[in-house]
Amino acid sequence: MSATAIDLTSEIKRLKRERNAVILAHNYQTGDIQDVADYVGDSLGLAYHAKETQADVIVFCGVHFMAETAKIVNPSKIVVLPDKDAGCSLEQSCPGPALEKFLLDHAEKNYYVIAYINCSAHVKALCHVICTSGNAVKIVNKAPQDRPILFVPDQNLGAWVMEQTGRKMDLWQGSCYVHVEFTRESIRKIKEQYPQALVVAHPECTQAVRLLADEVCSTEKMVTYCKNAPVNDIIVVTESGMLHRLRRECPDKNLIPGPTDRCACADCRYMKMNTLQKLHDCLRDLSPRVELPEDIRVRAEAPLLLMLEQSR
Ligand code: 13P
Ligand code: SF4
Repeated sequence: MSATAIDLTSEIKRLKRERNAVILAHNYQTGDIQDVADYVGDSLGLAYHAKETQADVIVFCGVHFMAETAKIVNPSKIVVLPDKDAGCSLEQSCPGPALEKFLLDHAEKNYYVIAYINCSAHVKALCHVICTSGNAVKIVNKAPQDRPILFVPDQNLGAWVMEQTGRKMDLWQGSCYVHVEFTRESIRKIKEQYPQALVVAHPECTQAVRLLADEVCSTEKMVTYCKNAPVNDIIVVTESGMLHRLRRECPDKNLIPGPTDRCACADCRYMKMNTLQKLHDCLRDLSPRVELPEDIRVRAEAPLLLMLEQSR
């Protein structure tokens, strides 16, 4: 670590004590951010931590919908994120007004709406329950049997959940621009290079890629899977930040990033907008803050709380 990074890290730790803040970071954040965080995890673990924290300030190192989720479930806290423009292609693929119109146009269907957590507060407010990649199968299994399900916004996660549960759902046609970059060909090639390797993939990948995987799971479950894997080589088909977390937790394993057709690994440009410097600045300035209209927050909170209850 450079002298500047060490200075920045110690200043972040000092400010954190002064502000009575907690730093929550997603598994896709850069290594230096993960190393200074109090908790690093997937969307589900982060939502539980955000709800339960006793800190006055939540510094959320992830993308905007994750920080917004923290504010929805724990509204009395100040929630800041290092870069307010850290969005998500899945969130963008399902704008609130478009979903509102779709539900009005298909009112006769009486949909039970399940939203993947990668969506805006407006979309959450229109849904019955939320899920993450870590609990989607469980949540869908608990959905009412007598109503059709509309699953938004990720068609790939939705298709994987249908395969796992046998429950038919209508799928919003959104996708993660990072995970659809992995192809059957790019994963086949790396498997040829490491014939003994196991492959673990995120359910946001396409079916062609999921079919080549030995395990499909959330980023948090990847940690357990890699720890317990009976082989040394594991190909990890998800965003590159995951490799830092895995290498820390499984130092004896050879963790190989899944390549795309263009690159040796895949970065989420939104996740990578956060830097150690911006983390420092947002803790110092308590800005940018996540705020949202109270009526939307209350309506978005109900399906999130239902998710937290149903996934225990
Ligand atoms: P996880 O909840 O599995 O960490 O996934 C979040 C995400 O944004 C994947 O692209
Ligand atoms: Fe969104 Fe994909 Fe980035 Fe995850 S990796 S935050 S789904 S754009």
